[in-house]
Amino acid sequence: MIIVRDVQQLRSAVALRRRSLGTGEEKKVGFVPTMGYLHEGHASLMRAAREQSDIVVLSIFVNPIQFGPNEDFESYPRDEERDAALARREGVDILFIPTVEVMYPQPTHTKIRVSGLTDRLCGASRPGHFDGVTTVVAKLFNMVQPEYAFFGMKDAQQVAVLQQMVADLNMNVEIVPCPIVRENDGLALSSRNVYLSEEEREQALVLSRSLREARQGISQGTIANVGELRSFLEAGIASAPLARIDYVEILTFPSLEPLGAAERFDDIQEDVIAALAVFFGKTRLIDNMRLEKA
Ligand code: PAJ
Repeated sequence: MIIVRDVQQLRSAVALRRRSLGTGEEKKVGFVPTMGYLHEGHASLMRAAREQSDIVVLSIFVNPIQFGPNEDFESYPRDEERDAALARREGVDILFIPTVEVMYPQPTHTKIRVSGLTDRLCGASRPGHFDGVTTVVAKLFNMVQPEYAFFGMKDAQQVAVLQQMVADLNMNVEIVPCPIVRENDGLALSSRNVYLSEEEREQALVLSRSLREARQGISQGTIANVGELRSFLEAGIASAPLARIDYVEILTFPSLEPLGAAERFDDIQEDVIAALAVFFGKTRLIDNMRLEKA
């Protein structure tokens, strides 16, 4: 694995591997963008990339423009040495670790903004967040020029927004969504889980537990419509005294259209997503489940 820190080195490293591998057949580059402090969720994306591509590129960049003024950009956990060791173990070929100066060498005047899809869920709670995500991901795509890019369904709205961006701008890359990786007890892995106290960590299990029980309720018919699902999830989360709900939303996926309370799951013709964002102390956790259309 080679570690590169500027755009020129990155482009040369990708070009070299595209040329040197094999016998003339076109090589596929698989790209996994991250903000580092890597865990099994990130590792699952690297594995998917390794399986589906010839050359695996991983980026680690804590992107300042996707954080709000009162968010955790400064304190976001970082551990380059551990991350590089994990990436090497997972068979990454090129690890790109740019500084803020490399990514944004001059004040930028261009932003990518996906409208509509970014008004809801995390877009409503974190104004400007998705403009920061789409802008940095578009820049990274231009730098790496991958055939495939791998993203976790943990951030389901991010997947929907990026798929829209790629389609709207004819970007020559396929967004590959990958399943949510969880701890044994159900907690969705997140770099931000390290912020949780022991008590918060314990109570944070209400997110995955509520979603799991809700899925069961829907399949058994005890939860038949959107309103019942919302009430069930809200009550489940409220059973944890330290939880403060940011949102509980039930939407179509990937179009992210709100669904009325009376809509019955049997009648909905699209996939549905139930998405949660909940604060435990200062830490905001997200989780979701997707209900595939019958
Ligand atoms: P980050 O939060 O580091 O996540 C990088 C990728 O890992 C995202 O695609 C995310 O969905 C995925 N991921 C995180 N936790 C996961 C889990 N438990 N299971 C499966 N996948 C998981 O998302 C970002 O960084 C940034 O917004 C980025 C796309 C890099 C742009 O800056």
